[in-house]
Amino acid sequence: MTPAERIEQLRQTVRDHDHRYHVLAHPIISDYEYDLLMKELQDLEADNPHMLTADSPSQRVGGEPISSFPVVRHPVPMLSISNTYATDEILGFDRRMKDWLGEEARTLTYSVELKIDGVAVSLRYEDGLLVQGATRGDGTQGDEITANLRTIRSIPLRIPVDHPATGAIEARGEVYLSHENFARMNNVREERGEAVFANPRNATAGSLKLQDPRQVAERPLQLFIYSLLFEDDAAALTAHPELDSHYRRLDWLGRHSFPTNPSARRFDTIQDVVDYCILWGEQREMLPYDIDGLVIKVDSMRLQHQLGATLKSPRWAVAYKFAAQRTSTVLNDIMFQVGRTGVVTPVAVLEPVLLAGSTISRATLHNEEEVRRKDIRIGDTVNIEKGGDVIPKVVSINIDDRPADSMPFETPRNCPVCQTPLVRIGEEVAIRCTNTVCPAQVKGRVEHFVSRNAMDIEGFGPAVTEQVLEEGLVRDVGDLYALTREQLTSLERMGERSADNLLRSIEKSKQRSLDRVIFGLGILHVGQRAARLLAGNLRSIDALKEASSEQFESIQEIGPTIAKSVASFFANQKNCGVVDKLREAGIAMELPGAEAAGTERPMAGQIFVLTGALERFTRDEAAAHIEALGGRVTSNVSKKTNYVVAGANAGSKLEKALALEVPVLTEDEFGKMID
Ligand code: IVH
Repeated sequence: MTPAERIEQLRQTVRDHDHRYHVLAHPIISDYEYDLLMKELQDLEADNPHMLTADSPSQRVGGEPISSFPVVRHPVPMLSISNTYATDEILGFDRRMKDWLGEEARTLTYSVELKIDGVAVSLRYEDGLLVQGATRGDGTQGDEITANLRTIRSIPLRIPVDHPATGAIEARGEVYLSHENFARMNNVREERGEAVFANPRNATAGSLKLQDPRQVAERPLQLFIYSLLFEDDAAALTAHPELDSHYRRLDWLGRHSFPTNPSARRFDTIQDVVDYCILWGEQREMLPYDIDGLVIKVDSMRLQHQLGATLKSPRWAVAYKFAAQRTSTVLNDIMFQVGRTGVVTPVAVLEPVLLAGSTISRATLHNEEEVRRKDIRIGDTVNIEKGGDVIPKVVSINIDDRPADSMPFETPRNCPVCQTPLVRIGEEVAIRCTNTVCPAQVKGRVEHFVSRNAMDIEGFGPAVTEQVLEEGLVRDVGDLYALTREQLTSLERMGERSADNLLRSIEKSKQRSLDRVIFGLGILHVGQRAARLLAGNLRSIDALKEASSEQFESIQEIGPTIAKSVASFFANQKNCGVVDKLREAGIAMELPGAEAAGTERPMAGQIFVLTGALERFTRDEAAAHIEALGGRVTSNVSKKTNYVVAGANAGSKLEKALALEVPVLTEDEFGKMID
């Protein structure tokens, strides 16, 4: 084979594996094998520079950072879609379509798709090659960000050519970040002391605007394509009459290597459309990414043309949005809350307002720097939003409604609880109270220790916490286990029954797993995941106490910030005293069989996927067991998956496991395996 032939063969092979991995989520070779292929390609291209082409999969990242993006005009404007919030309005939309179209549209077919909450982009292909990528911008013109978009591995740099349809095409879609990738990205940023992104959409927009494509390549961006335009639509339709259907266009996109969302459906009655919308309203939480509703489109392209568009949006589509997740209200005050780690966070005190079914009077303002950057002032009208998490947040202000006499916000100098001067550590955005016995911090630590994901002491709510602290019965979490019946019944509003129940839950919490104990200690930067890694690798609190910062860092996924923080936690006598009290109380300080089993890890190298509702374990607990035994949990089923654990109502992951013949375990079988 000549070098030219081998290069072409390697490019085809790598493209195919990219597609399998990033679009189909179904890789068939290991990362190692993939790297070998890529390396061979890069070496051959380096030896034969004249053969290098822009569509080579080795060329996803190239070129130099630029200082500003060129502006491009969209030949067909990128419009927005009009919104509806009630299912009645969907029926209204259907009636409107039928009125406008008259006789020939007695029945209409609709395509219904998830409305991905990300950033809209357009990709232009000429003769099968990606030549331009752009943002939506104002709809008429956007930024040319081709180099950045090329780094997204699910975007094909080249598609199969199929003239005349593929003369020149434009594929439009939504770039997004999955919840998992967003969280991971923010964790890294937090570790580095960089400001975190408020939500996946902001993180996506920020990533696409980076001026160095090499940095963009490190952001795990994904996309779904939802529309296909042919430059010569008439020629394309003559060659492929079936492409008069939008739904068939999605199918065409899928067959031409583009990632499309698997939840698109086609319906012949509006009632089916409504049912499908309601279904997603109920199960949207199950998706690994954010959607803000569904898009309903008239399926026939010919009818779409006939219906046309207003200046702002096409008449042939409507977005069904889930119950308002965003509203605005007046900011009455800014309060400061001291967390368990001493971080002082500003909290918005709001004029109460209804949002997604509940009345909101508080919202987070993230950090003091953000308040300053956005110049949020008391008296402002603010936009608040409820994301995937329960705590609403202030996302922006309506500057036009600002009262004339408003004053910029002032950063407090002292802790609002104990008056200790506040400090900013290093590059951190957070300001902290450094007094470790600050009542607010002690309270925060106890609340964290008893919380559901930590020791899960049922009935130990904020009111009881406050009482035992005020009465001096508890000074740190080690004291919780010394609480007596007399002490508890002496508290106000605490009957004998409640006291007994509380004692029972305290007793029960002694059986919690090691990773929960570690998490519960509230070590700075140690979240649930890090706690699990520490428990799984070191297997006892004593081992943690003795380990050095370097040893922690040698654990995969534990970075220097966490490593240093754990080491300094255990270097502190006071903390060791608390740990000793917990040990004396009878809390497990090691993994079962820690000594006997030594480093035995029976699940080493095995990959699990958890799906459906489990009863005996929470997902986190099941994952902790697997990781403690050396296994790994991933979210996608592939041929590499060793077991899928399927609980009640398992869906597509179970189907995929069956299709790929991956062994499926019931919860019982899994329980036995762990035992
Ligand atoms: S169709 C003119 N389909 O929603 C209609 N849009 O408000 C073209 N979006 O900017 C858009 N998922 O970025 C369409 N399946 C989907 C979508 C979708 C998300 C976004 C898109 C657009 C906005 C419209």
